[in-house]
Amino acid sequence: MTATPASAPAASSAPPAALEASCAAAGQAHILEDWAALSEAERAALASEVEALDFGFVRSALSASLAAAASAGAGAAPPQGVVQLRGVGAPTAERRAEWRARGLKLVAEGKLAVLLLAGGQGTRLGSKLPKGCYDIGLPSHKSLFQLQAERLLALQRLAAQANGGRGRPLLWFVMTSPFTHADTVAHFEAGGYFGLDRAQVTFFQQGFLPCMTEEGQIIMESSSKIAKAPDGNGGLYRALRVSGALAAMQAAGVEAIDVYCVDNSLSRLGDPEFVGCCHERGAQVGARVLAKACPEEKVGVFAATPEGRLQVLEYSELDPAKASSTDPATGQLYFNWSNICMHYFSIDWLATTVEALSGPGAAYHIARKAIPSKDGSKVPGVKLEMFIFDPFATAERTALFEVAREDHFGPVKNAPGSDTDSPDTARALLLAQGARWAAAAGADVAEGCAGLEVPPLVSYAGEGLEGLVGGKAVGAPGPWLLGADGSIV
Ligand code: UD1
Repeated sequence: MTATPASAPAASSAPPAALEASCAAAGQAHILEDWAALSEAERAALASEVEALDFGFVRSALSASLAAAASAGAGAAPPQGVVQLRGVGAPTAERRAEWRARGLKLVAEGKLAVLLLAGGQGTRLGSKLPKGCYDIGLPSHKSLFQLQAERLLALQRLAAQANGGRGRPLLWFVMTSPFTHADTVAHFEAGGYFGLDRAQVTFFQQGFLPCMTEEGQIIMESSSKIAKAPDGNGGLYRALRVSGALAAMQAAGVEAIDVYCVDNSLSRLGDPEFVGCCHERGAQVGARVLAKACPEEKVGVFAATPEGRLQVLEYSELDPAKASSTDPATGQLYFNWSNICMHYFSIDWLATTVEALSGPGAAYHIARKAIPSKDGSKVPGVKLEMFIFDPFATAERTALFEVAREDHFGPVKNAPGSDTDSPDTARALLLAQGARWAAAAGADVAEGCAGLEVPPLVSYAGEGLEGLVGGKAVGAPGPWLLGADGSIV
């Protein structure tokens, strides 16, 4: 007896009636046109892809997105009320200490959770693994995920210390996508969750949307597979609802979340000073901001809508003339405040937003791309992506908080060897920060030293180093790694 090849067509050649009817009713009958030639396994896979699709949602998303594209950014002005750390009106050290204490209390009481956006594919970095698994070449060779896990633990420990030794576990929600999920979970498993309690980490996945022609025809990547793309980091809102992660936060008594992107080597996740400031102001949405390095820097910029609400103009959508225009009064860039993708959301605003964006009518950004299709050619199509900041204009109370670039922004975007936003530049920034912290704590750092890696479990933000490095020499060339016992190796 000969075995049937896996790709052999299955016996009955007609698609199930309900499946056929739903595709036909949606004007997408072509999805099933090769059904007769598919194997049993391919048919099952295609049927489950179709069943998972909400045709009505997809149709309304495309038409809302096409309608919204025309008006993006019209009439935008610089944002108001930025808390600036330098110059006139900068908050005093006492105010900052109050915010920090408030933030640490929120952490200790379990009222803050941290959320990581880790669904992106890292195409520019050129790595097959999720960006969080990347080793930027520090002396410890820790991955970005491990650095972040240790910062979370360090913050949890600081919060407990500041609150009489009592503190709840700081919950960490990690959003993955089908591209990054398995490798991300495997990395955490292999690293023993980097010292965290497994129960404090929740993985949940963002969704997909089909790639379509502008007329709304879903494109087939093969006879049995719909062409799909992740729905962007704004897919967070829908995913929070579908996965139950929002409900879990609410059940745990979380009042606010601190959200950050995976590819910032300096991400001070849960930063208590920032979180405390946003919470004190009753902000629904907050963001750390930086003065833009140059007009061409690939960062989104904060702006105000004509109604005075907060918005972000993404770099890919901001025309170069607007990006380089300056304010004649100050000589500063007109759109000066960069988005470093580190956001604060109150849980109440989040709940309303999740509800609003999970239903029909949500608008996405349209990326026009050549989409690989089943006959081997590429067809012109659109991918729909939501950006996490898209609903910011719905917030009535917002807070923009300036942070120091050298302490908060070490992006890992481009491949090694690139002189901007690469693993090399991110590593250099982290090592330079450690050397600055050591010098401030009384170490003698030699000129030309390539820096010091200060593990997060030794210091979260430069605190507590005097007893470890005070009076010690940190020589050239380095780089060096600081041990918990004060050894510098
Ligand atoms: C992002 C910001 C940009 C900001 C810059 C700073 C957005 C849309 N853009 O740009 O304004 O100046 O960071 O570094 O936020 N992600 C997902 N799912 C997706 C796509 C992305 O989880 O479908 C995650 C990535 O894993 C990453 C974060 O979102 O953690 C940022 O995404 P990325 O696409 O890298 O945005 P940038 O172009 O760098």
